[in-house]
Amino acid sequence: MNRETVIVVDFGGQYNQLVARRVRECNVYCEIYSYKTDIQKIKEMNPKGIILTGGPNSCYEEGAPSCTRELFELGIPVLGLCYGAQLMQHVLGGRVEKAPVREYGKTEVYVNPSSPLFAGVEEKTICWMSHFDYISAVAPGFQICAHTDNCPVAAAENREKNLYAIQFHPEVLHTVRGREILSNFVYHVCRCAGDWRMDSFVEDAIQAIRRKVGDGRVLCALSGGVDSSVAAVLLSKAVGKQLTCVFVDHGLLRKNEGDEVEAVFGPNGPYDLNFIRVNAQQRYYDRLKGVEEPEQKRKIIGEEFIRVFEEEAKKIGAVDFLVQGTIYPDVVESGLGGESAVIKSHHNVGGLPAHVDFKEIIEPLRNLFKDEVRKVGLELGIPDYLVYRQPFPGPGLGIRIIGEVTAEKVRIVQDADAIYREEIANAGLAQDMNQYFAALTNMRSVGVMGDERTYDYAVALRAVRTVDFMTAEAAKIPFEVLQKVMSRIINEVRGVNRVFYDLTSKPPGTIEFE
Ligand code: XMP
Repeated sequence: MNRETVIVVDFGGQYNQLVARRVRECNVYCEIYSYKTDIQKIKEMNPKGIILTGGPNSCYEEGAPSCTRELFELGIPVLGLCYGAQLMQHVLGGRVEKAPVREYGKTEVYVNPSSPLFAGVEEKTICWMSHFDYISAVAPGFQICAHTDNCPVAAAENREKNLYAIQFHPEVLHTVRGREILSNFVYHVCRCAGDWRMDSFVEDAIQAIRRKVGDGRVLCALSGGVDSSVAAVLLSKAVGKQLTCVFVDHGLLRKNEGDEVEAVFGPNGPYDLNFIRVNAQQRYYDRLKGVEEPEQKRKIIGEEFIRVFEEEAKKIGAVDFLVQGTIYPDVVESGLGGESAVIKSHHNVGGLPAHVDFKEIIEPLRNLFKDEVRKVGLELGIPDYLVYRQPFPGPGLGIRIIGEVTAEKVRIVQDADAIYREEIANAGLAQDMNQYFAALTNMRSVGVMGDERTYDYAVALRAVRTVDFMTAEAAKIPFEVLQKVMSRIINEVRGVNRVFYDLTSKPPGTIEFE
């Protein structure tokens, strides 16, 4: 490896990808390897630095994940974090034991600013602690360079050998100067130049895909969402026409979305790939006829997707690789993170097609966070509106239409949603909310239009602010904007005579309606 690299050795902690991300934010390439990786392999990679992550074990227990002493004798700077710090001390002759006081949460820490790790950091700062073991005696050659009220060794260093141990988690944002601390390690201790950028990620990913795929054939299920779009473009840049993208239009997409996806990825778009659009709208409507129960609707939509996809795949014949737009949060959500990770099906694919004939899965975005995927997308020249697209659920409008789904209801919700999105954009509010859309309630009510009595549907508008989509609150939209949206929907969308704004938080509500 001739590119400047820092290696993160994974001991199973929950913040491991964050460590890698922080290093990448310092413009240094970073890869994560299992603690089981052979030291010979690490040597061959010739990293500028090694970071040992946290983990759930006690390093002094039999069978706990470990590393060899040799790792600390390679002459490569090593930074141990939490479990990694304890392990470093344990292996090099320090003492680690159960702490008399377990530390968890934001904690005041006193650091020695003359340590290269803490250059520019105030003597007293806030760190994020999460440990039940502690370092009670440092290994020979180490000096303590930070402590808290309950933790005598919050950090220790052996400057001569470039070995550093930190009990807390600098990778977590709650550690106020965490970024500086990691950046100090990367720049002052490892002496990295920091010349890696996202465009290097793209270049490297393309090379790696080419090496892996050779002259094989690749199949990609393209949903038009950010992740699968970025994965598809990356693959197309790498292997061109060896890639076939199958886009299933299930008739539950937003207004004009199918055509927009086709315009980008189809034969008239900028990419040189095989694009198959399957217009399966009617099939879906037929299968959803009379079905009202939300879970059953979701199941039908997911199953039908797999069926359509398999049929297309059969026409194409055996392929060598299947591309998935899995990103790191998908891996975490499914509890499959870490070195033992197995493949997780992409959200929007709703399960891996069991009968598609392929040898291997390619997940080029597996280690990236959403905002990093967006950066890659921009780097690849994907249009902004695709890159910054808000999340859209796999079952699409099927879960934004309460009760039975019909083509007529899809038209209503598509039109109402398009107006809503247009007015939010006109009012410059899009960046104040993380997800917003119109849904169709199953309620009809009496109204009057002109001199006529109406008996039409009520549309519900939803807009939420959220960080992680696990909790959310309704966004504040100026009343005049809501009024304008209401009046346009009622005037322009046939079949609607009432508009509601949904104020419910999550919990107790969910973001979607079903
Ligand atoms: P809820 O409704 O659970 O939504 O509060 C949280 C986030 O997840 C999205 N969502 C889905 N995404 N397949 C997906 O790919 C699904 O079945 C699905 N259900 C909900 C939702 O849009 C929101 O961003």
